[in-house]
Amino acid sequence: MADQGLFSAEYLSPEVQAALPEGYKLRALRRNDFDAGFLDCLRVLTTVGDIPKEKWEERYDWIARQDGTYFVLVIEDTNTSPPRIVGTGALLAERKFIARASIHNLGSVGHIEDIAVAKDQQGKKLGLRIIQALDYIAEKTGCYKTILDCSEHNEGFYVKCGFRRAGLEMAHYY
Ligand code: ACO
Repeated sequence: MADQGLFSAEYLSPEVQAALPEGYKLRALRRNDFDAGFLDCLRVLTTVGDIPKEKWEERYDWIARQDGTYFVLVIEDTNTSPPRIVGTGALLAERKFIARASIHNLGSVGHIEDIAVAKDQQGKKLGLRIIQALDYIAEKTGCYKTILDCSEHNEGFYVKCGFRRAGLEMAHYY
């Protein structure tokens, strides 16, 4: 049976899939994406380092056990042989002790992380589609908002995706 990946297909927006270029596929991260260029895609965002496959698998398995909390999606270009991951993004659904949307269910806050589009694929709206796909997951998991940190350089991109400045990032490094 094909590996369905980190999360079920019900969390994948059909509208986003329909809006992607021909041969581009929206899907959950899979355990064998180590060999499909996932880390190379992430390298446009930050220094990833040299990760051995067993460390990748250990981390993947840990994330996979966080059922309904940790969503990493990818866009795969199946026009190439082998297919290549050209974009990725993550959403962490943090369950709160706060009731917002419903009197029956407590709400969640979505944290958007690690948005990356391969250098040669930027400017094709893949970044926008990744954010729309994560918004879809956020709504489905009961998030009443999503938040993210970004550089000044990327503010315009997130404004185009419907975000607005709210608050200030602070950090402690260990
Ligand atoms: N500043 C202003 N506007 C931008 C920027 C930017 N840096 N990047 C894209 N846009 C605009 C586009 O022009 C487009 O506008 P339009 O609708 O008027 O045509 C709109 O935003 C959508 O752009 P996309 O084509 O979807 O952008 P792309 O696919 O190139 O992805 C991204 C944007 C994710 C920032 C990409 O350039 C990238 O991977 N950069 C390197 C990694 C990075 O910085 N990631 C974000 C880190 S922050 C985080 O992860 C929470």
